[in-house]
Amino acid sequence: MSVISIWNSTIGKKVVMAITGIGLMLFLVVHLAGNLLLFVPDEGQAFNQYGAALKSMGPFLYVIRGGLLAFFLFHIFAAIQVYTSKKRARSGRYAVETSKGGPSKMTVASKSMIVTGAVLLIFVPLHIYMFGMNKGAPPPMVMIDGNEIKDIYSMVATSFNQLGIVVFYVATMLFLGFHLRHGFWSALQSLGAMSPRWTPAIYTAGFVFAFLLAGGFVVLPVYFYFFIDAPVASAGGAL
Ligand code: HEM
Repeated sequence: MSVISIWNSTIGKKVVMAITGIGLMLFLVVHLAGNLLLFVPDEGQAFNQYGAALKSMGPFLYVIRGGLLAFFLFHIFAAIQVYTSKKRARSGRYAVETSKGGPSKMTVASKSMIVTGAVLLIFVPLHIYMFGMNKGAPPPMVMIDGNEIKDIYSMVATSFNQLGIVVFYVATMLFLGFHLRHGFWSALQSLGAMSPRWTPAIYTAGFVFAFLLAGGFVVLPVYFYFFIDAPVASAGGAL
């Protein structure tokens, strides 16, 4: 079977969605772990040093970012194609859709996946524009151990002192939680890992995973809003 014929089949696209989805989940675990450094009570030193360490990876960082972007795009294209082919099958243009699991059903879960996925698709570029690019302004800088590095801590602290941004993040993380909860077991199902014996455990694991990850991302903006003051001056300006 060629790569093109795998991509052209529904099950092939589901496998692509599963593999890229698992890759993106791993990114989120690493991203949350790094973001937990925001809780270290050292006015951002640990978090900024972590950001600087990532940057010092040089070209390798761009390889990782390229891979991440490719995963993101393949995940979205496969999802849109699976969704539209299910819709066409349901609208009766094709009597039966050939997929490994038999005739297709458009479940509430798969419908909500396209909605929660669309929210994340809007969120991610906005998030990178805000924190990765400091909204197009020169980023604030800070001296640590004699080196001038990007002050991503003050960018986060400034943003999360604004109620609108905190509400936006908390609401989006709820969508993220729903997306991960369904995506977790759906990915394992597409890869054939769901046996009747393991199904209840995998559902529970999906729930716990989604709850912890989305919960971790929710706690950060709320914590900054209530407990950390915005830095007095940040060279990049308020976000
Ligand atoms: C409270 C929640 C979050 C905080 C505080 C946060 C913080 C940050 C910061 C500071 C950066 C820029 C790092 C730098 O330029 O060195 C960043 C980049 C990024 N974030 Fe987040 N993030 C959060 C949630 C999320 C979520 C939920 C997603 C995905 C659904 C996400 C996806 C990304 C991506 C894709 C990048 C770009 C990575 C890169 O350029 O290497 N983040 N985040």
